[in-house]
Amino acid sequence: VSFLALSPVGPQAGRINNLWWILFWVCMAVFTAVSLALFYSLMRRERRADDDRSLVRGVAGASILTTVILLVLLTVSVSTGNGIHSVPDPNALTIQVIGRQWWWEVHYRHPVPGPEVVTANEIHVPVGKPVQLDLVSNDVIHSFWAPNIHGKKDLIPGHPNTTWFQVDRPGEYRGVCAEFCGVQHAHMAFLIVAEPEEKFRQWLEWQGKPAIAPVTEDQKKGHDLFVSGPCVMCHSIRGTEAGAQAAPDLTHFGSRRSIAAGTLPNTKGHLAGWIVDAQQVKPGANMPTMNLAPSAIEPLLAYLESLR
Ligand code: CUA
Repeated sequence: VSFLALSPVGPQAGRINNLWWILFWVCMAVFTAVSLALFYSLMRRERRADDDRSLVRGVAGASILTTVILLVLLTVSVSTGNGIHSVPDPNALTIQVIGRQWWWEVHYRHPVPGPEVVTANEIHVPVGKPVQLDLVSNDVIHSFWAPNIHGKKDLIPGHPNTTWFQVDRPGEYRGVCAEFCGVQHAHMAFLIVAEPEEKFRQWLEWQGKPAIAPVTEDQKKGHDLFVSGPCVMCHSIRGTEAGAQAAPDLTHFGSRRSIAAGTLPNTKGHLAGWIVDAQQVKPGANMPTMNLAPSAIEPLLAYLESLR
């Protein structure tokens, strides 16, 4: 999983990367020139007769050069800004991302009406296709930032934002919330999974399906515990009675790579720790500490991990 602004995988991050390197080398050149001039003037011993005139010429030349350099940097910067905000395709795949304290709710909007796809903290996109992100927040300001892919974009309550990106290299790219939004701001990460178009379509179709029905005894027991317990107060599992919208949709939870918004890898052991005492892992999160009977834990884990 990559998380590096200087390793761009799409045109937006590529332009930002180019701008960064132009600024870096221009500033390096200016720094070197100033250092040499300073060194030269310190080394000189005597004053010469024509010093005053050459001083005026030197200062005037440096001023003009400074203005030219600043104008060039301004032009490059504005053209980068225009380039990364231009709208590439009005029919692009549109994904709505809702920033919440402290996780990301993800809705796929189909160009053709289809089953609703809701997931959390993991955004799959097709490689080489422009993607439109509609960014919404209903609580506080968050900021969506996947450095390999694009710059930051804020999610502001009452002010929906839109951004575009494209990923040209298949892979998994980490993103984070880049605006302090409360005690668990640092545990508000997400993953962008870029895959070939065909694979993405299959994923999207699968995510639109209702949850897999429990098969084993343990899974059935876990399902019953889930829909009769406190879990249904906040979570949804499409295809069951669980339909609350306050917390991540768990319909295909078992297919996700992480739990608690990128805080822990999605393994049975970590999930057990999270279910039993979420407040230990992520203090302040809305997931309460459960008073589960020890015999309930294994079935719940079996059921949740089966939700591929
Ligand atoms: Cu959300 Cu910081």
